[in-house]
Amino acid sequence: VVAHLRYHALSEQPNFLGAVQSVVARLQGAYALAIVNREHPESLIVVRAGCPLLIGLGIGENFIASDHLALLPVAQRFIYLDEGDIAEVTRSKVKIYSAQGQEVTRKIHKVEFSHDGSDRGQYRHYMQKEIFEQPEAVAGTLEGRIAERRIPDEIFGVEAANVFSQVKAVQIAACGTSYHAGLVARYWLEALTGLPCLVETASELRYRSNVVLPGTLFVTLSQSGETADTLAAQRAAKESGYLATLSICNVPESSLVRSADLSLMMHAGPEIGVASTKAFTSQLVCLLMLTVILGRHQQKITAADEAELIQQLRHLPKGLEEALELDSEIQALAELFGDKQHALFIGRGPLYPLALEGALKLKE
Ligand code: F6R
Repeated sequence: VVAHLRYHALSEQPNFLGAVQSVVARLQGAYALAIVNREHPESLIVVRAGCPLLIGLGIGENFIASDHLALLPVAQRFIYLDEGDIAEVTRSKVKIYSAQGQEVTRKIHKVEFSHDGSDRGQYRHYMQKEIFEQPEAVAGTLEGRIAERRIPDEIFGVEAANVFSQVKAVQIAACGTSYHAGLVARYWLEALTGLPCLVETASELRYRSNVVLPGTLFVTLSQSGETADTLAAQRAAKESGYLATLSICNVPESSLVRSADLSLMMHAGPEIGVASTKAFTSQLVCLLMLTVILGRHQQKITAADEAELIQQLRHLPKGLEEALELDSEIQALAELFGDKQHALFIGRGPLYPLALEGALKLKE
């Protein structure tokens, strides 16, 4: 449909960019488009609304993609387009126009992940590599987040202390594996902070008119920060009277982080495997840190409790290494079960969502 609209627009308006602008003005919904024109083969017009699209700045060449990981071998500098932005990309130039048609400049982000970080190394596939990266991922999540015997509010942003002191309830929204991390956190949050906590799949929450209790903190969890339903739920939350939005995410430049009031980066390193693994572990660590902070504000977690939980967190990378040493034993068990047609995962309490996550991983 878009291609036909553009074809008709070009017959009324010979300017390529102008034609695309007039088409975009008629579009509704979520899209990311890259439009080429046989008459101007040297330029690409790109536009996004509701879907990710970024421009990678190379040396004497420019690129577009939906995720910077795809471009790491060729670019380390990226421009993230705002909602409704239209850009004209050539080998040597990038010109960006806002949804209102004004020429604008958008910040250039340098990404610190190197291409090597996305290499598979000795592992058979990325999922295996990322399972083995869990100790490192968790160490990354914890680094710089613990001051002596205290987890400072400011790890979530400068405004965090003010927001946390007003929290009366927590609503978590996420999808898939991130949703399972949220389900685990509900056990912690309700037991250790006394705050009511709701967790819902973002794809349901966004389509429901839900009743928001005063003082509810809206928390999104996402590895990528680009999951359409999670983004839409956060967007809807901004209009629904929540106290604030808080995002726990692995991609600092993502749409989710850029539109959240408060955020905490997972620092788990890039996750390339489609089935999420180390991101889940890292999300749990972030959620436990959030629980500790909220519990302190609610005066449910004492300084001694906090010191004890911090000690347990510090031990995690080592504990994970020990678990990973069971690899060959696990492999022997997997071979025993490999020919079976069905599997049941059973768990109670916080292990119930872990069973759900285990089942999801086996299906994937
Ligand atoms: C499961 C998996 C998906 C994601 C889900 C949310 O292994 O990869 O279910 O967990 O699509 O993705 P993020 O966390 O990027 O929002």
